[in-house]
Amino acid sequence: MRLRKKVALITGAGKGIGRATAELFAKEGAFVEIAEVDDAAAQEAVRAIHQAGGEAAATHVDVSDQASVESWRAQVLARHNRVDVLFNNAGVSAVGALHDVPEELWEKVVAVNLTGVYRVCKAFLPTMIAQRGGSIINMSSSIVHTGLLRRAAYSATKGAILAMTKSMQVDYAPYNIRVNALLPGTIFTPFVEQYLRESYDNPEEAKGALRQRQLAPELGTPDDVAYAALYLASDEARYVWGSGLIVDGGTTAGKPY
Ligand SMILES: NC(=O)c1ccc[n+]([C@@H]2O[C@H](COP(=O)([O-])OP(=O)(O)OC[C@H]3O[C@@H](n4cnc5c(N)ncnc54)[C@H](O)[C@@H]3O)[C@@H](O)[C@H]2O)c1
Repeated sequence: MRLRKKVALITGAGKGIGRATAELFAKEGAFVEIAEVDDAAAQEAVRAIHQAGGEAAATHVDVSDQASVESWRAQVLARHNRVDVLFNNAGVSAVGALHDVPEELWEKVVAVNLTGVYRVCKAFLPTMIAQRGGSIINMSSSIVHTGLLRRAAYSATKGAILAMTKSMQVDYAPYNIRVNALLPGTIFTPFVEQYLRESYDNPEEAKGALRQRQLAPELGTPDDVAYAALYLASDEARYVWGSGLIVDGGTTAGKPY
């Protein structure tokens, strides 16, 4: 019970890494508040948590929409009047070399992956400041350390998230708020499945190629990242401030051959 009695907010927790983290946080004693655009997936996540004996609620939230985030803030604070953990996980992909990325796609990926994190943090920081504590986890990616084919727009947002995390940490340190980033490598989720489908004629072959660019024998799973998020969320990480925690099977550590 590493998160006993904590209120943990997770965006994009209907699927993939967010879903695995929501289930793990609930198992560790947190009340999990899920913000999702995919209502069916969010309800399914809440059902699974309740079935396992945990506590959770889901709200329809589009992190790129200010009114939607404001309404979520009001609901969460009415229920708990505190926020212990805020995991900004929601994200969308954008595939294409920079000159191939249409402006609407650029704007969408920035609106969700970057401005969405700004909006959600802005909504809940006053509460964390007033309570003099909290843990914010921002989802970046190991792509910030090694470029990746046809991902310029996406990597721009994830690089900005890592930089923003460090400056946020400086600003909120006086309030005992820890702000860290997570940098996963290739985690096999619906997000990656979609990327493989959209980008390659033979997605299975491409999956094998992804495995070869890392040192670990298998691609990561959502649980691999969920356990890292659990660490950053818990008091065990009380001395971890403004870090970018890499969870990438060695992709950025060195070349396999
Ligand atoms: N899967 C990977 O290999 C990988 C690697 C590095 C970083 N990441 C990052 O991890 C995060 C989660 O990725 P995933 O692979 O679990 O993706 P996923 O697509 O499986 O899950 C993302 C969830 O976010 C939700 N979402 C999308 N836009 C939203 C919005 N505007 N408001 C609220 N919710 C929204 C989706 O409905 C979905 O349930 C993303 O930020 C992604 O960039 C993933």
